[in-house]
Amino acid sequence: MAKRRVAVLASGRGSNLQSLIDAAAAPGFPAEIALVVCNVPGAFAIERARNAGIATAVIDHRGFAARELFDAALDEALRGAGIELICLAGFMRLLTPGFTWGWEGRMINIHPSLLPAFPGLHTHRRALAAGVKLHGCTVHFVTAALDDGPIVAQAAVAVLADDDEDRLAARVLAAEHKLYPRALQLIAAGSVRIEGGRAIIDAAAAEPPALLNPGAP
Ligand code: GRF
Repeated sequence: MAKRRVAVLASGRGSNLQSLIDAAAAPGFPAEIALVVCNVPGAFAIERARNAGIATAVIDHRGFAARELFDAALDEALRGAGIELICLAGFMRLLTPGFTWGWEGRMINIHPSLLPAFPGLHTHRRALAAGVKLHGCTVHFVTAALDDGPIVAQAAVAVLADDDEDRLAARVLAAEHKLYPRALQLIAAGSVRIEGGRAIIDAAAAEPPALLNPGAP
């Protein structure tokens, strides 16, 4: 089966991008990372893509007078490259409803909390302040609402008594690096469908213990 053409959108260090690049290098993986788009010139994500021989596009959001214009340029780059699926990986730009509707069901994001808890920024700090005992990460389809949309997969991480923000963030990030490639694999293989606002994983492809893994890594 032909591999699905995936674009990863990143703004920073790109460690999740790297986990997707590494996973996609396996011969049987159902997706190829065909394009990396970055809105921040000089971001390390661009170097990671170049090192892997992946095409890159730098679209600096500061060059656009309105979000719609930036999103139109982004859309043109993606369609020009024949992209079928988008992975947001630390992409720090709000996307317009027009863009998210255009890619509905074909764009996923990874968020560092167990959604719907702690959407938005500073998730680890907020999880510690709330005293939750389980924290983690979520891969979800992107909709017009921030950190919303059908949940594809989650990984849980135990919050330890002596955790600080950095220690907790590091363990969640390690879980992200396992979860995101697995979620992309499921979607690219056609094992996920959206029904009534929920993402349903085909029973044959679902592996609950591998997706929800308290204490990860
Ligand atoms: C990750 O924690 C991801 O969940 C969030 O932004 C961070 C990006 O990290 N959306 P990296 O650039 O992938 O290292």
